[in-house]
Amino acid sequence: MRVWRAAPPLTPTLSRTREREFWPRCSESISCLAGPAKCGGATDVSRGWFVTGTDTGVGKTLASCALLHALRAAHPRCIGMKPVAAGTDTQGHNEDVLALRAASNVAVPATLDNPVLLAEPLSPHIAAARAGRSIEIKAIVRAYGELASQADAVVVEGAGGFLVPLSPNETGADLAAALGLPVILVVGLRLGCLNHALLTRDAIQARGLRLAGWIANRIDPTMAEQEANLAYLREQLGAPLLADWPWQPGAETRGLRLLQLPD
Ligand SMILES: Nc1ncnc2c1ncn2[C@@H]1O[C@H](COP(=O)(O)OP(=O)(O)OP(=O)(O)O)[C@@H](O)[C@H]1O
Ligand SMILES: [Mg+2]
Repeated sequence: MRVWRAAPPLTPTLSRTREREFWPRCSESISCLAGPAKCGGATDVSRGWFVTGTDTGVGKTLASCALLHALRAAHPRCIGMKPVAAGTDTQGHNEDVLALRAASNVAVPATLDNPVLLAEPLSPHIAAARAGRSIEIKAIVRAYGELASQADAVVVEGAGGFLVPLSPNETGADLAAALGLPVILVVGLRLGCLNHALLTRDAIQARGLRLAGWIANRIDPTMAEQEANLAYLREQLGAPLLADWPWQPGAETRGLRLLQLPD
C-alpha cells in the first residue's frame, strides 16, 4: 500500500535540496508496480501522472508537454510516455510521441516511452486488430516501471478519452488503474464538455483513482458562456484547476503557464 507524505505544490524556485524534502515519498515506489526489483526504496522514488481528456483532440499532448516543461524546472529526469499511439506519418512516426520526447529531458528506448505504436489513426482496439496485434496492459505497466526507475517524474498521456477501448475487454481506464497513477483531466471547453467532464471524473473515481487536477483548455473560441461553464466545473469537479488556457493557435508548450503543479 502506498503511503504518501503530504507535499505542497512544487515551485521552480525551491532549492533542489529543499524540494527533495517536499517531493512525496511512499513506502513503495510507483515503479514497484512493475516488481519490487525496480523499487529504488523510500527515498528514491519517481512521481507519475496519467493525463486523460474529455475527448480526443482536446489538448492532452499540449498539457502533457506543458507539465513536463514545468517539472523540468526542478527535476533533471522528466519523461513523457505515450503507452498506446495510433496513427503514424509516412516515416512511421507518431506526432504525440515526438512531442513528448521533445518535452522530456531524458531519452529512453521507444519500447519504454511508446510500447504500442499502431499505424492507423483508429480506436486502439481496432487499429491493433487490423495490425494483427494485441495490447497487453501488463506489458505497458512493466515498461512504465522501468521508465519510472530512470526518472524523477513521468507524464503518461492516455489515448483518446478515458474509456477508449484498448482491446475487446479492456479500456484506457483499466490501464490507468493498473498504473495506479493520479489522473489529470484536460477539459476541452466546448458545448457538451460539462457532461463529458463529470462522466470522466466519475469514471476516474470509480476506479479508485485520484483526480489530481484538471486543465481548462478553450479549444472553441466561439463557445458561448465560457466563464459560466468554467465556474460550474470549478465548483463541481472537486480537484484543483491546474491551468486555464485561451484559444491560441500555434501555442508553444514551453510558454503555457500552469497555475500550480499537481500533487
Ligand atoms: N488552446 C488551444 N488553442 C489552439 N489550439 C489548440 C489549443 N489546444 C489544443 N490545440 C490544438 O488542437 C490540436 C489537438 O491538441 P492535442 O494534440 O494536444 O490534443 P490531444 O488531446 O492530445 O489529441 P489526441 O487525442 O489526438 O492525442 C492540436 O493541433 C493543438 O495544437
Ligand atoms: Mg495527444
